[in-house]
Amino acid sequence: MSFELAIDANLDKPALYEQLVLQAQGLLHGEKDRIANAANFAALVFNAVPDLNWAGFYFVDPHADGDELVVGPFQGLPACVRIAFGKGVCGTAAQSRQTQLVDDVDAFPGHIACDSASRSEIVVPIVVNGQLIGVFDVDSPSLARFDAQDHAGMERLVKVFADAS
Ligand code: SME
Repeated sequence: MSFELAIDANLDKPALYEQLVLQAQGLLHGEKDRIANAANFAALVFNAVPDLNWAGFYFVDPHADGDELVVGPFQGLPACVRIAFGKGVCGTAAQSRQTQLVDDVDAFPGHIACDSASRSEIVVPIVVNGQLIGVFDVDSPSLARFDAQDHAGMERLVKVFADAS
């Protein structure tokens, strides 16, 4: 199978996320393997959303008392492997279960710099059946790359992943 990225680069953000939700639903349909779905989901977002340098998953490590994240499938440069709950943007999203939207990562206390090119970041917690399973992290080399439309769109997209899990 070859994958056609059927997304028009000129779409406005709400339309882009609308298209992405449909593509993600198609891509994950009928597959329950979390790693396979995470890998394809990260590849879809990284290639379809403009101006990103990293997109991927940190999953709750069940072997670490449930309070540590470990990197999962992603696109971009190699990343930090483990992040404790409460640390950095990802650990804050995990602990609070709230999406974190950071306009300037250098101004975020405790930000963990995996790729020095990252300037802004959005991290969405992933909750399945009331349980936090991880977070989806997206980084951009541009300051303030993400706004309220990305916030809403990424949360809708992550729900597609959570529903498939
Ligand atoms: N910057 C993140 C760490 C993960 S990397 O960006 C891929 C953070 O502060 O949690």
